[in-house]
Amino acid sequence: MRALKNIWYMAAWDKEIPPGRLFHRTLVERPVVFFRDHEGSVRAIGDRCPHRFAPLHMGELVGDAVQCRYHGLRFGSDGQCVHNPHGNGAIPKAAKVPSYPVYERYGAVWIWFGDPALADPAKLPVFPLLDPEKYAAGQGYLKAKAHYELESDNIMDLSHIEFLHPLFATEAVRRGKIETVQEGDAVWSKRFITNDHLPSFLEEIFGLEPGTAVDRWLDCKWQAPALIELYSGATQTGRPREEGSDVPSIHFFTPETAKTTHYFYAMCCPRSAGPMAQEIAQQQTDAVRGPFETEDLPVVEAQQEMIGDADFMSLNPVLLPTDAGAGRARRVLARMIAEEEKQLNPAK
Ligand code: FES
Ligand SMILES: [Fe+2]
Repeated sequence: MRALKNIWYMAAWDKEIPPGRLFHRTLVERPVVFFRDHEGSVRAIGDRCPHRFAPLHMGELVGDAVQCRYHGLRFGSDGQCVHNPHGNGAIPKAAKVPSYPVYERYGAVWIWFGDPALADPAKLPVFPLLDPEKYAAGQGYLKAKAHYELESDNIMDLSHIEFLHPLFATEAVRRGKIETVQEGDAVWSKRFITNDHLPSFLEEIFGLEPGTAVDRWLDCKWQAPALIELYSGATQTGRPREEGSDVPSIHFFTPETAKTTHYFYAMCCPRSAGPMAQEIAQQQTDAVRGPFETEDLPVVEAQQEMIGDADFMSLNPVLLPTDAGAGRARRVLARMIAEEEKQLNPAK
């Protein structure tokens, strides 16, 4: 699949990779097995044993090496075979698997598939919503049978919430003022809705008296490859935002294949909520799984079925004003991919 190489992809939540265990996931079409070394640092190597291609994750961790379950070759965290239990124990030259730079930050594990020399942690964007000093974040995960850009479209164009999630929206959402702002390679898709009345479920979350008229904002910030922060909040109509409250969230997508996506999401609760912040964030994260899974996923996956193997833009999608932000993000990503391909393959 066409995808950026020299970029950090979210691979997993940190808790998915506990010490002493192997964890595996296919990311950007590469099978990867993860484990923690004796110092607790996450390591990532190719999951396909170069002998008879058994998945290494079926094996076990022996010290800081992964032992293949089938014939016992062992591979270190640099991907080199470090032990051959057969014959005179000589290690064949080809007995190695790829190893990938990984970096743990924001309660997540990030992986780099491009040139390892360029895998600079500073290239990971800053996510204020995942700054533990400011917010507590939950951890949610879903797998979607759809291309990851269909998933970022879904968040960048929240006009769908009126139709797909009646629990989250009212008819006023369509009257919202929308705005697309590009800052470097980041794209903001902003929506501002005035004089709305929130569904009672949301009034409760925002701590509002029933029937309060509110101004409401839904501001998404997209960064490549598909990392979206959603600043969502409400304040009494006519009052400044600072007086209101926000219920922000993050939505990070990593392709598994061209037609499947890992969806990492988190509701973020301000630390000002007190000692319960972490519990609240996780509860809210667990609560949104329902609508994501039963309302968004079926539509997004059915979109993918309809699109099949075709390139999305080649089908000439009809453009609505609400597509501006998602469209801009698609164009930025397409440009970044084209530039990188040119850099890696100047002859083409
Ligand atoms: S398949 Fe892994 S050692 Fe044979
Ligand atoms: Fe949705």
